[in-house]
Amino acid sequence: MGVTIAVLSQKGGTGKTTTVRTLTDVFRRVGLSVLVVDLDPQGNLSDYFDVPPDASPTIAEVLVGRADAKDAVHNDVLPANLTLAEAELALAGKMGRELTLRRALRTVAKDYDLVILDCPPTLGLLTVNALVAADHALVTAEAQYFALQGVEQAVALLELAKDGLNPDLEWLGVVLTIADMRTTHSREARENLKEHIGDKLLDTVIRQSIAYAESAERGVSILDHKPARGADYVSLADEVLDRLGLTAARKKVRALLPQTT
Ligand SMILES: Nc1ncnc2c1ncn2[C@@H]1O[C@H](COP(=O)(O)OP(=O)(O)OP(=O)(O)O)[C@@H](O)[C@H]1O
Ligand SMILES: [Mg+2]
Repeated sequence: MGVTIAVLSQKGGTGKTTTVRTLTDVFRRVGLSVLVVDLDPQGNLSDYFDVPPDASPTIAEVLVGRADAKDAVHNDVLPANLTLAEAELALAGKMGRELTLRRALRTVAKDYDLVILDCPPTLGLLTVNALVAADHALVTAEAQYFALQGVEQAVALLELAKDGLNPDLEWLGVVLTIADMRTTHSREARENLKEHIGDKLLDTVIRQSIAYAESAERGVSILDHKPARGADYVSLADEVLDRLGLTAARKKVRALLPQTT
């Protein structure tokens, strides 16, 4: 059964999708099989993995019970598009609405080493479904003054999922993204988080770089576009595997680190 990781944040633009896609790039390069699930009606993750816009069925049909998850997997991606917004509304009125994704993924997760869920920028029903379906939750936070507030809200939702529907859910940690550690602002945001969440703050910091926008635009992984920057995500992948106890894959991941970063 694939280890399922939900990547979430309380607000938009914290690097969730970039984190999901780049971690997936790293994991696939070391031979792990990864299913990615797009839970955002914006469909950014699906675009990145080149799922055709008319691919059908998508996660929307799966969540409303009109398709099986295995039929909605296109090239190891369970894609989303704008119809997911409607599906979320329809789902809200159903019994067992928080458990729908968990049940749906059961049939497909067993074929993968890892399943990574990209959440939308709200702590609504889709994110709740992700937290109920996941074994681990990874929170992203932009290196800003208000990062702590956002993290606290995401963790409160995580605790709710854990107390109610998914007692086995584990909080993997928080990764600071889009960080310019040369500024006092980013350094203070990091210290503030560290003070409050201690070891839950991952050591890896994803540095801010224009290379991410370029790599998204060109459809080229940051690992190839700017390996020195991609190294941040290689370190993150290493830390995540360590926390998951998947030590065998770590050696291969470290071999991906460029000689000078
Ligand atoms: N480390 C980084 N440095 C600079 N820009 C970045 C970095 N990571 C991501 N970005 C850019 O920031 C924007 C938001 O990133 P991304 O889409 O990954 O965030 P998100 O949390 O998934 O957003 P949303 O909440 O809208 O889904 C994108 O334009 C992306 O290219
Ligand atoms: Mg996103």
